[in-house]
Amino acid sequence: EKGGYEHFMIKEIYEQPRAIRETMSSRLAKDDSHIILDELKWTKQEMAAIKKIVVVACGTAYNAGLVGKYYLESLSRIPVEVDVASEFRYRSPLVDENTLAIVVSQSGETLDTLAALKEAKRLGAKTLAITNVVGSSISREADQVIYTWAGPEIAVASTKAYTTQLVLMSMLAIYIAGLRDTISAERSRELISGLRNLPAQLHEILEDVESIKTFAQKYGFNEDVFFIGRSLDYAVALEGALKLKEISYIHAEAYAAGELKHGTLALIIEGVPVIALATQHDVYEKTLSNIKEVKARDAIVIGIAQQGDEQIKKYVDHTIFIPQADKFLAPILAVLPLQLLAYYAAVTRGCDVDKPRNLAKSVTVE
Ligand code: F6R
Repeated sequence: EKGGYEHFMIKEIYEQPRAIRETMSSRLAKDDSHIILDELKWTKQEMAAIKKIVVVACGTAYNAGLVGKYYLESLSRIPVEVDVASEFRYRSPLVDENTLAIVVSQSGETLDTLAALKEAKRLGAKTLAITNVVGSSISREADQVIYTWAGPEIAVASTKAYTTQLVLMSMLAIYIAGLRDTISAERSRELISGLRNLPAQLHEILEDVESIKTFAQKYGFNEDVFFIGRSLDYAVALEGALKLKEISYIHAEAYAAGELKHGTLALIIEGVPVIALATQHDVYEKTLSNIKEVKARDAIVIGIAQQGDEQIKKYVDHTIFIPQADKFLAPILAVLPLQLLAYYAAVTRGCDVDKPRNLAKSVTVE
């Protein structure tokens, strides 16, 4: 059932090009002009009335929500809050009938997420679920549902669910922006053709994993690893750190690169591995100066950058390149090396990759 792979996790990592293709299939207009989400029954007027979006989820799905916030805010210009489901309903959330509540859950069974969804509904919000499991509790409770078509995810550590959630979030943001007339035809077309390129680009990353494997073997016995990035790279850094902690039990922290100086830099000493994401062109120079800060403390820096970036090599110890992509879509590529790094670090340390200690695939208790 593992199809020749040693673990479900690595099988599922390799399934990502297909999972993403399936999630997009029939949802991209043939001429790339718009997104087709026939599941959604919103009218232009209803969407115009939305004043706020809240995204509620746990763990990796929460991390996908952070990327979603960026997409939704930039394209639709609606303010977006992202909340951890176990926090949401205990703080009298400011939610009303002009709020769209989006819950994200691979399993569709996470109890806290389900409870948050019920609370948002009780407060009058319009509700939308993004889930991977047809007929799950969350899919039945929400007003509307859009499915990631990732196929069953068995490994406890979520991989293909995350990338398909990102793909769906980007499509949803383009779709909502279309209804609100806040996206140009040109930008929409650019993003949709970028989405189309993703499966082949993911495949390209998966074809050459030797250097990632080598880093994982080399640094797999360090007890602390830091992930830094700005903007969307910061959101991806959070997912990279979660993945590493979860399966390899290495202590990892993700920091907004600009936040380092406000405390964390004290922990950066000689030999500490720092994974620095630098895929976002608009904050590239700023990220580079943060990379120089950690390098000056003799950290070992692994840069994740877009192909063609010759500059970064001067400042880091190793570079992993992702294929060139729109800054919006770069996270969907940049997370792959981080998933692989976590996987190979866990294998190197002899961890039970598919069933990390103390964790369950679906958390149906509070
Ligand atoms: C991390 C992981 C968990 C889940 C979280 C939410 O790899 O798998 O953090 O993302 O428990 O689960 P779902 O998405 O099923 O609600």
